[in-house]
Amino acid sequence: MNNKIAALTQAVEEFAPKSLAEVEDFRIKMVGKKGEMTALMEKFKTVAPEQKREFGQKLNALKNAILAKINEQKELLENQVASAPQIDDMSRPGSAEQLGSRHPISLVKQEIIDIFSRLGYTVADGPEIEDDNHVFSRLNFPMEHPARDMQDTFFVEKAGSEPSADDVLLRTHTSSIQVRTMQQQEPPIRVICPGRVFRNEAISYRAHCIFHQVEGLYIDKNVSFADMKQSLLYFSKELFGEKTQIRMRPSYFPFTEPSAELDVSCNLCGGKGCPVCKGTGWLEIMGCGMVDPNVLEANGIDSKEYSGFAFGMGVERIAMLKFGVKDLRLYFENDVRFLHQFDSVL
Ligand code: DAH
Repeated sequence: MNNKIAALTQAVEEFAPKSLAEVEDFRIKMVGKKGEMTALMEKFKTVAPEQKREFGQKLNALKNAILAKINEQKELLENQVASAPQIDDMSRPGSAEQLGSRHPISLVKQEIIDIFSRLGYTVADGPEIEDDNHVFSRLNFPMEHPARDMQDTFFVEKAGSEPSADDVLLRTHTSSIQVRTMQQQEPPIRVICPGRVFRNEAISYRAHCIFHQVEGLYIDKNVSFADMKQSLLYFSKELFGEKTQIRMRPSYFPFTEPSAELDVSCNLCGGKGCPVCKGTGWLEIMGCGMVDPNVLEANGIDSKEYSGFAFGMGVERIAMLKFGVKDLRLYFENDVRFLHQFDSVL
């Protein structure tokens, strides 16, 4: 029995397989049901009681050595297989990569960025998880103001039952990036801020709890309403075509005074009236206005020296108008049949 154990120990040490199949054969031969170890255990039953302890230890050591060898060789060979190049036939034609396409929301967002960068705007960014301070308080939303209810907020952490500047929330608009920019940069400021926003809305064909906005902010000396109007006219023509006209309607936002809603002439019916513009000939595309002096002051900018304008638009809405998409949910479903239609637009 001693000889057998010694011979097997040597065999284990010398075992150097070239394939996983060889490892498997070795396993069956050594520790399989009818293998060497089973035979040795049978013999072990006949060993004299005073020698049981010595042989027991030797057999255990042998078994452990076998198992360790099997595991070690298996791992080695498996890694070799994974890293070895698998080229069976060098003359085979290559397989074509399936090309994806850019998402329509990304396409429109990029087009908006491109147009404003031609006017000298740079892109600014900010976090999606924000605090009340950046989303509301420093944008001139007083604590108890009903305008806070206009934006159904998802709260992450509420400081108490009353609204507080420390509440942590998902940003409801990209206007929060305005605040961050004003705090970080000295005027002149000319930024656009694309980003995802979140509102606690029931999902339907015309509303979603996640959507995208692009915010704009321009602050310098002597910036006037006329500057805003001309910039937004240029933008609208670039986006919807040279014939596009704009109109502004008075509106209200806490952070701008005066505030306006910007409409463009309907690019589908040319302003005559159709179902998309609901017969009016006009399509609303963004909110805008002159930055309220309170907002400038709250963010460390002297409102006697500087003035500015701001605007904010929904990317989904612009994409809907550009592409005639009637159901907002399509943008979030990632159905490739929908997405591939935008392969060659823009
Ligand atoms: N933050 C507004 C919203 O989410 C959009 C907006 C309106 C942004 C007017 C502005 C602005 O910067 O001046 O509805």
